[in-house]
Amino acid sequence: MNDKIIIFDTTLRDGEQSPGASMNTAEKLRLATQLEKIGVDVIEAGFPAASEGDFEAVSKIAATIKKSEVAGLCRTSIKDVQRAWDAVSCAVKPRIHTFIATSELHMKYKLNMSSDEVVKSAQDAVRFAKTFTSNVEFSAEDGSRSDPDFICRVFEAVIDAGATTVNLPDTVGYAVPEEFYKKIKYVIENTKNIDKAVLSVHCHNDLGLATANTLAAIRAGARQAEVTINGIGERAGNTSLEELVMSLKTRPNFYPFTTGIDTTGIYPLSRLVSMITGIMVQPNKAIVGANAFAHEAGIHQDGVLKNPMTYEIMKPETIGLSSNKLVLGKHSGRHALDSHLKKMGHNLSKEELALVFKKFKELADKKKSVMDEDIEAIVTEGVLQTTDVFVLEYIQITSGTTVRPTATVEIGINGRNVSDTDYGNGPIDAVFNTIIKLTGTKSELLRFSVSALTGGTDAQGEVTVRLREGGLLALGRGADPDIITAGAKAYINGLNRLEYLKAHPVDAI
Ligand code: KIV
Ligand code: ZN
Repeated sequence: MNDKIIIFDTTLRDGEQSPGASMNTAEKLRLATQLEKIGVDVIEAGFPAASEGDFEAVSKIAATIKKSEVAGLCRTSIKDVQRAWDAVSCAVKPRIHTFIATSELHMKYKLNMSSDEVVKSAQDAVRFAKTFTSNVEFSAEDGSRSDPDFICRVFEAVIDAGATTVNLPDTVGYAVPEEFYKKIKYVIENTKNIDKAVLSVHCHNDLGLATANTLAAIRAGARQAEVTINGIGERAGNTSLEELVMSLKTRPNFYPFTTGIDTTGIYPLSRLVSMITGIMVQPNKAIVGANAFAHEAGIHQDGVLKNPMTYEIMKPETIGLSSNKLVLGKHSGRHALDSHLKKMGHNLSKEELALVFKKFKELADKKKSVMDEDIEAIVTEGVLQTTDVFVLEYIQITSGTTVRPTATVEIGINGRNVSDTDYGNGPIDAVFNTIIKLTGTKSELLRFSVSALTGGTDAQGEVTVRLREGGLLALGRGADPDIITAGAKAYINGLNRLEYLKAHPVDAI
């Protein structure tokens, strides 16, 4: 029987540390439910001591998720560990995940602690965490740049204190596969009590090597991999779940390991993460990019038609990408929509379904065929957004080669409707100027991008914006057959996310 690799997903914690990728509690809950559904073993739900918002989201996820373990991250202080426990305690399978840095650089400049103090702090935190739960993970932050003998010493101490998982992160994405393989082997061979814990790795992608390093670590003996959907995460991101799981599945002779992941849920989950966070997947991204299964060269197309295996090492259906994505039209009923939503992994309440059905009908009136991507956009906009401060009610644009671009916009602000008109050097500029006038907001637009959700000239435009206000950064996204309306939706979505961040300040961590 092949060894099972424990899949620890940190999309909701490290993934949320991607610049601008903040998620509200409803969005996190939806994602956690889908992560559980595809068979993720451990869901890292957040960092409860970081903010009230994080605490609330972790608690709600802990109360909802039944099959996966739910982990809360904390530093080694008693206050942090207590906070993590308070947030995950109602989970069926709670886990406390505590960490402290172990590299010379971090201990000296960041922590201002001696190595003895770090060992004691790590051990005390694990001991305290063990008073709450038997399931405790310890991470040696900046592990890949730490002295391997010191890692062994820390791991031995925390395993003695009761840690059941010890994690060696490549925090800054500095490791390379051969070296990381040797480091993991060394730690396994030189930590006396390592047989009492699962060895885990957590890799970052600064050199584009996160998946390769994780695979090397697994070959060396690691049995838990920390990953995120679409590889989102701090800076260049983390090892991506889909790349790791599909590497193991596609090359079983080289990697004789299994995972509990239902790979057909990968593509829908990738789309959901990108919808929720506003972080688009690059077209050439392995496994889930728009071009991952597209064959451009004539020779390739010919080969694939004769036998897909000539140029395809994986079947698109394996990741839940069906070639037959045409779904519904204006005559489709509520039942057909509901059953299709369920296939896509959305189990909606009666009220949510009614809302999505209404929006679906509106779209089907404008667009001949409604595709999976359209339905995802409707669900994201209609169901996942919490009580927003700003709501777009109405928009009218005048634009063209001979008129000055003008926008009239009506929005609801905390339930009160206001409207105004303004100009701009183009229709988007006019709309954004009007929204700024109405809301009195002072954010800076850092990025604006537009793409089509599906093919066809009647496709919905999808706009993403990146906004900054003070030190806060937020992404906003919106979709509509009218790209100016999509832009207005995206801008308002970004403003709402900024409001959410203002209402849920994150402590300096
Ligand atoms: O990158 C890192 O070191 C982390 C730890 C907290 C596990 O995210
Ligand atoms: Zn990390």
